[in-house]
Amino acid sequence: MDPAHLQILHQNTANRGRKPPSTTRGFTDDVEKFEWYEVPYGIMKKRTYKTGRMDEHPLIFPNILRQANCTQIRVPMDDTHTKIFFVRFFASKDGSMVEQDGDPPVQYIQPYKNPPDQLHPFTRFDISKEVQAQDHMAWETQGPIADRTNERLATSDHGVVMLREMILANIDRVEKGQDPKCVIRDPNHEMIDTNLSESLVGPETRPEYREMASLDSQP
Ligand SMILES: [Fe+2]
Repeated sequence: MDPAHLQILHQNTANRGRKPPSTTRGFTDDVEKFEWYEVPYGIMKKRTYKTGRMDEHPLIFPNILRQANCTQIRVPMDDTHTKIFFVRFFASKDGSMVEQDGDPPVQYIQPYKNPPDQLHPFTRFDISKEVQAQDHMAWETQGPIADRTNERLATSDHGVVMLREMILANIDRVEKGQDPKCVIRDPNHEMIDTNLSESLVGPETRPEYREMASLDSQP
């Protein structure tokens, strides 16, 4: 729910080849506006660039990010650990549906920090190359449980507030015995389009996609 971090945290990877005016602002000035709006399955976050280009990535309530060709399922394991599954989709050459035989190939991502079993400040993150490593650094260096009493939310955190309010409202629903948002019990429910068509856009037009796709070539 934090679209503003792309231009700052990922400034040296998602915008490779350009130099930002300062590392603090990164490429924030490329963006005209950030917007968020509720959709039946969660929250859409939207960036509009000054060039007119626009991108939208939905959060599928409560814990799934759809971005480019990837669905990131973030599963709480306990109060201080989250396991993330990346499910990637690749368009067939002619756009036809392909049934894959057996289980899809699985890749376990190597640690982004050294030593891998230590917490900040007793470990070092290598954030020089990979987008995901930069995210892990930003998440993990807040501590196992971030101290929210010290946070200072800003305009660009509007989506964070929306998500928290949505979570609280849906906890209320569960307490009343109702289904939370995004629980669909009808097996014949029509397929929900979560912007998957974005993944079919050519990588050459989408720098973020190129970055994410390059993860697949990592060992
Ligand atoms: Fe990120």
